[in-house]
Amino acid sequence: MTAQYDVVVKNRHVEGANIAVIAFESATATPLPNIAAGAHIDVHLPNGMIRQYSLCQDPNQHGIFRLGVLKDPASRGGSVSAFDDIQVGQQLQVSEPRNLFPLVQAEHTVLIGGGIGITPLITMAYQLANECASFELHYCGSSPEQCAFVDEIKNGLLAEFTQFHFKSEGASHRQFFESAIQYIKPESHIYTCGPVGFMDWVINLAQTQHFPENQIHKEYFQVEVETSGDAFEIVAERSGKIIMVNAEETILQALAKAGIEIEMSCEQGVCGTCMCDVIEGEPDHRDVYFTDEEKASNEQILVCCSRSKSARLVLDI
Ligand code: FES
Repeated sequence: MTAQYDVVVKNRHVEGANIAVIAFESATATPLPNIAAGAHIDVHLPNGMIRQYSLCQDPNQHGIFRLGVLKDPASRGGSVSAFDDIQVGQQLQVSEPRNLFPLVQAEHTVLIGGGIGITPLITMAYQLANECASFELHYCGSSPEQCAFVDEIKNGLLAEFTQFHFKSEGASHRQFFESAIQYIKPESHIYTCGPVGFMDWVINLAQTQHFPENQIHKEYFQVEVETSGDAFEIVAERSGKIIMVNAEETILQALAKAGIEIEMSCEQGVCGTCMCDVIEGEPDHRDVYFTDEEKASNEQILVCCSRSKSARLVLDI
């Protein structure tokens, strides 16, 4: 079970068009743990939802968790509550940091962030700068006025390592990278985070330059996953229960109705929390968490979003 912390909002201010920069500190005598670059926390929002946010700070800053929250009125309500309802002094619960996007040692590291996807890369950049490692940070966005952390980067430790690519200033990151990619040393590791289309473009570009999969690192967030499809049956091996998953419900919802609770968090196929082992049957993977090889192996499934290609799926639950 993931450890939880009671925290209080120490600072909150708005940067860019609609990004709240929020810092939590412990609300109890238990100090917050140190963080690693790439880590995120689950935030129990005032409206009851749980959402993941990347930690965005110098990892040497102890005792706080800092996030950048983009308000997206088109989302399912998580980001609006996080932006509007989390104010200074508010107490809430967050999980311990978890890291699905760790930095690996490399001769050179290239960090490419789009919009609010810059947040985990800022933490990575601080860590690399602290270690005097070789790296570069690329911040792609619409304009400096729309984006957060621009002044902090320009006026601090990261300034000399950072290149901004703002559309409003006529800088096309596509043109830049399509030319620059050939000069990136082949042993470099590339990290990207941002909107799905942006990341797919970065990954594709790196692949066309023959960067191996283990040198391309990515973290998706806020993906819209299609969770509907034909009905099928789940067999919960440990209890022997047989549960029907209807066309418009997820496996997670069907299991909950049958009294089987699976730990979950993002409900978007992003975090991996709801992972279950598959004993028999062929999953229809809808997540962005597993690699293509992991999906092809069909050994595990994320039950918050994925479905079944076979009429029956036997799970080790
Ligand atoms: Fe996050 Fe399912 S709950 S992947």
